[in-house]
Amino acid sequence: MYPLLRSLLFQLPAETAHHLSLKALANLPAALFPQLPEGRPVEAMGLRFPNAIGLAAGLDKDGIAIDGLGRLGFGFIEIGTVTPRPQPGNPKPRLFRLKKQQAIINRMGFNNQGLAALVERAARRRYPGILGINIGKNKQTPNEQALADYLTGLEQAWPVADYITVNISSPNTRGLRDLQATDSLHQLLHGLKQRQQQLADATGRYVPVALKVAPDLEEEAVQAMAAVINEVMLDAVIPTNTTIRRPGLENEPLARETGGLSGRPLKPLADRTLATFRKHLQPELCLIGCGGISSGRDIADKAAAGARLFQLYTGFVYQGPALVRECIRAAASLPA
Ligand SMILES: Cc1cc2nc3c(=O)[nH]c(=O)nc-3n(C[C@H](O)[C@H](O)[C@H](O)COP(=O)(O)O)c2cc1C
Repeated sequence: MYPLLRSLLFQLPAETAHHLSLKALANLPAALFPQLPEGRPVEAMGLRFPNAIGLAAGLDKDGIAIDGLGRLGFGFIEIGTVTPRPQPGNPKPRLFRLKKQQAIINRMGFNNQGLAALVERAARRRYPGILGINIGKNKQTPNEQALADYLTGLEQAWPVADYITVNISSPNTRGLRDLQATDSLHQLLHGLKQRQQQLADATGRYVPVALKVAPDLEEEAVQAMAAVINEVMLDAVIPTNTTIRRPGLENEPLARETGGLSGRPLKPLADRTLATFRKHLQPELCLIGCGGISSGRDIADKAAAGARLFQLYTGFVYQGPALVRECIRAAASLPA
C-alpha cells in the first residue's frame, strides 16, 4: 500500500506531500491501521518506553498528528522543534528529495506555530506512548539570550512532555551550532539543569532532558561536550541531527542545495558520532541513536555503537510504516 501512496505523493512538491500526509494521518480512522508487532519495552531516563523505536523531531513540528503517528507503532514520538513564538522558517523551496540515495536535504529553519499551540495539542493527545518535545530558540533571539528561549520552552513544555530535547544542532538557524562550544554549552546546560530541578521540586514530577547533537563534530569537540554533559548529569543525548557534509554525493546536482542532509548517506557519520559520545559519556547516560536508519540491520549497528533507543525520519518517509514494524522487531531481538 505505501509504495503506491508514495509514488503518488512523490509527484508533488516535497513540502506539499509532507503536509498532506500529516493531515491524512491526523484524520484516518483507527480501523485502517495495520496490526502491530509485539515490541519489547525499554526502561530509560526513568521512563518506560513500550518499544525502542521513535519518530525523530521535525516531522510533526506542531504536534498535529500525534495520535495517528502513534497508531503506526512508534514507542515514542518527538514533536517540534518548537520555538517560544511562531515563526515562518526559511523561504521555499527548502526541502529536497534525493531519491536515488534515499536522502533528504532540508533548510526549513524551524518553521512552527509556537509553543502555546503545540502545548495545547500535546495536552489533548490520546497516544499512550512516550511524548518528547523538542525545543529551540527563535531566529531573532541572539545566542547570548538563547538560554531564556530554552527556559521558556522547558517551563511551558514541562506539564505535557514525558521528556524534553534541547536542540542546538540544526544547521538551518544561523549560529545555533555555536551553542555546542564548551563555554556556551556549559552556561546553557547549567541554566537548564537548575530550572529542571526547580520545576521537579515544584511539581513533584521529574521530566528528563536530552541534548540533540550534530554529526559534524571532531572527537576533541565530542570529548569536551561529553565532559559538560557528564558534569551537569543530563539524562540523554541524541546523536545525530542532519549533516552539512555531502558524503558520497559529489556527482549529485541537488547535493549543492544548502541545508542539512539526512537519510542513508548520513549513517556512517551518525554512527561514528554516536560511538564517540558513548566512549566519553558516563555509562548510565542514555543514548538515542538517530541518522540514516533504513533497515532492521541499522538498528543492530546503532545498538552496537551504544544506543538503547532509536529514532527514524528519512527512512520512514521513503519506506513508510513497514520500516517502523521492521525496526520494532529488530529492536525486540537485540541481546538484552
Ligand atoms: C525535513 C526535516 C526536518 C527536520 N526538522 C528537525 C527539527 O525541527 N528538529 C530536529 O531536532 N531535527 C530535525 N530534523 C532532523 C531529524 O530529526 C533527524 O535527526 C535527521 O533527519 C537524521 O535522521 P534520518 O537520517 O533518519 O532522517 C529534520 C529532518 C528533516 C529531514
